[in-house]
Amino acid sequence: MTKDVYSLPDLRDRALLDEGAGSPARLAVIGSPVAHSLSPQLHQPVLDATGRDLRYIRLEVEPGRLDESLAALQRLEFVGANVTVPHKFEALEACDEVEEAARTLGAVNTILFDQGLRLGFNTDGPGFVCAIHEEFLVDVKDLRIMVVGAGGGAGQAIAAQCALERCERLLLVNRTTAKAEALAARLAPFFESERLEGPGDRLLTFPLDSPHLADVSGHVDLIVNTTSVGLKRTDPSPLPASCLQPHHLVYDTIYNPPETKLLAEARRNGARVANGRSLLLHQGVLAFELWFPGTRPLEVMRRALREASP
Ligand code: ATR
Repeated sequence: MTKDVYSLPDLRDRALLDEGAGSPARLAVIGSPVAHSLSPQLHQPVLDATGRDLRYIRLEVEPGRLDESLAALQRLEFVGANVTVPHKFEALEACDEVEEAARTLGAVNTILFDQGLRLGFNTDGPGFVCAIHEEFLVDVKDLRIMVVGAGGGAGQAIAAQCALERCERLLLVNRTTAKAEALAARLAPFFESERLEGPGDRLLTFPLDSPHLADVSGHVDLIVNTTSVGLKRTDPSPLPASCLQPHHLVYDTIYNPPETKLLAEARRNGARVANGRSLLLHQGVLAFELWFPGTRPLEVMRRALREASP
């Protein structure tokens, strides 16, 4: 019998890991908790459709043991791994080489094992750019963007990607202002003009409870929720409805539930809305392309995602 979730002791040897399986495990998503991860349902259909006799598994690893688990996967000749909460920061340290953009995003979510080396990438940021383009037919670089939850891991990565894209304006909103300010200090160089005047009003921070939030949100095009508020169906919206206007594009990185209170209120106020399924899809597509260059997994993955989470 194969397992829904594997753990470190299962990596002792290949016979144990592949017991009852038709094909050898060579890819994994590493997280904690990881049982809910849809990644196997995204990747396995593409592996099957492209005739690769490989299995993608879920691997539960507690914080602090990522390095050990990567070493075990390398011994077992894995192709690579996806890394999810809470290991994305630890992964940055655990890699031998990390792509420059992933360093700027502050996290690694995709690892490729290459001749004994661990190469680290981040497909969440570029996946976000693809998702926004697909959902709203606009480019992140052309937008004034408010990232709500810019102090968290997801928020920092998305905000950093917006900075890498040199978006028109970036508003970092967070409950704990100090975290947004620390991020702004790190991202300021991306917004400095050639005349070295500093980021000016292209990069701003606001506390989530700022009385000015409704006013300033009038001057952004895209609002992105990266907080965990909305994951529970009973959660409120992270933003007052007065911040949501008809000209807004509102993207919630949460996809389950499919319509958070934020998206429902934004829709009622006339905004265009989308949830995080497209981010899940595109970060997966980009990861697959890193492991298997030259493949085009998008359409198979899109169908697989629809079936896994209608
Ligand atoms: P991480 O992604 O670093 O693990 P998290 O605890 O999941 O962090 O929180 C992600 C984001 O959601 C953070 O921006 C967090 O705000 P703080 O930096 O102020 O902690 C935000 N967040 C979590 N719960 C929140 C709440 N009830 N109201 C507003 N923001 C919240």
